[in-house]
Amino acid sequence: EKKDTIYIDPIKLVGKDLLDLKTNIKRLLGSGHPLLNTISEYYFSSEGKHIRPLIVLLMSQATSIAPKQYNATYNTEHFQTVDKPLTTSSSFETLDSKDNSTLYYYPSFSSTGTIILPTQRRLAEIIELIHTASLLHDDVIDESEKRRNNPSVNISFGNKMAILAGDFLLARASVALARLHNPEVIELLATAIANLVEGEFMQLKNVSSKGTTTFEYYMEKTYMKTASLIAKGCRAASVLGGSTQEVSEIAYTYGKNIGLAFQLVDDVLDFIVSSEELGKPAGADLRLGLATAPVLYAWEEYPELGPLIKRKFSQEGDVKKASELVNQSNGIKQTKLLAASHCQTAINAILKLPESDARNALIQLSQKMLTRKK
Ligand code: FPP
Ligand code: MG
Ligand code: MG
Repeated sequence: EKKDTIYIDPIKLVGKDLLDLKTNIKRLLGSGHPLLNTISEYYFSSEGKHIRPLIVLLMSQATSIAPKQYNATYNTEHFQTVDKPLTTSSSFETLDSKDNSTLYYYPSFSSTGTIILPTQRRLAEIIELIHTASLLHDDVIDESEKRRNNPSVNISFGNKMAILAGDFLLARASVALARLHNPEVIELLATAIANLVEGEFMQLKNVSSKGTTTFEYYMEKTYMKTASLIAKGCRAASVLGGSTQEVSEIAYTYGKNIGLAFQLVDDVLDFIVSSEELGKPAGADLRLGLATAPVLYAWEEYPELGPLIKRKFSQEGDVKKASELVNQSNGIKQTKLLAASHCQTAINAILKLPESDARNALIQLSQKMLTRKK
């Protein structure tokens, strides 16, 4: 009997921790202003995919039984500081009084011997906060009207509120991050935030450093915009668990490649899935002037796409024409193949970790990534 054919439901492995995620995030977000509370919590009240926390929690489990640094310690006293309510010396203390983000101080043990530490659980929450902050800002930039099947925050509350709420999420994520008391992890996540902004800039203003092709530029942008947070999140999970450098590198490689595949698939879905199925506007990229992988591949077959790409599909009929050419070309197929090759790289990396349910779930997750519909 082949062991690796047994299907493992990733959600079941970390179900309890994922279930607590939204509640814990809401605890991190309490503020003195009721409207700020409402807006900050808005996207946490609808159904997100929680793909980033899921990956971080599974990675925490998978690396928990891998080699450790000689000085790795689990200090329960330290876990308690992670979850302490915010205290402040100022007289505005009451503003923070709702941030009673106390959790359970103990690691969660799985029946198969893997562990998730409280710090790693908190890391998963921080990453979802950062991701959601970027979505609040993204919907303003993209003037997007829908998110997770609901009107987006910018539509319901206006751009100013959306930007401020995004900043608030980032700020609270930073407080929680500081409380992990791990400089390496703080640096990883702070860099990931910078990368999100850099990726968004690269997307808005195509100024390529000399010598890079358009496709290389697109892939670098994709790393910055999507893969970096997942990759550095995986590395951070491994660092918090006291893993060796080698194990952290494996975690990073997995996260990076699954992140790249995730965005490549996202860029395909924008062409082939309806808005209704996506829960957000479909066909948005061309309308935003963006040439993603399917277009860049199609351009190789249909050079007449060149001028349209250059003028960001701004003339009447450009979007329709480009979309038709992409559908006639092998662009979608080639993008899926590229996504598949990154998934394979992710799988090859994770196979270097000791075998566990969590490792198998991470492998299945990367396979499922390729066939997702939203
Ligand atoms: C979604 O992309 C957006 C991102 C992955 C990152 C956006 C980053 C910023 C706006 C920079 C600011 C960052 C922070 C942390 C405040 P998309 O528009 O392609 O996807 P969508 O279809 O889900 O809108
Ligand atoms: Mg967008
Ligand atoms: Mg965008």
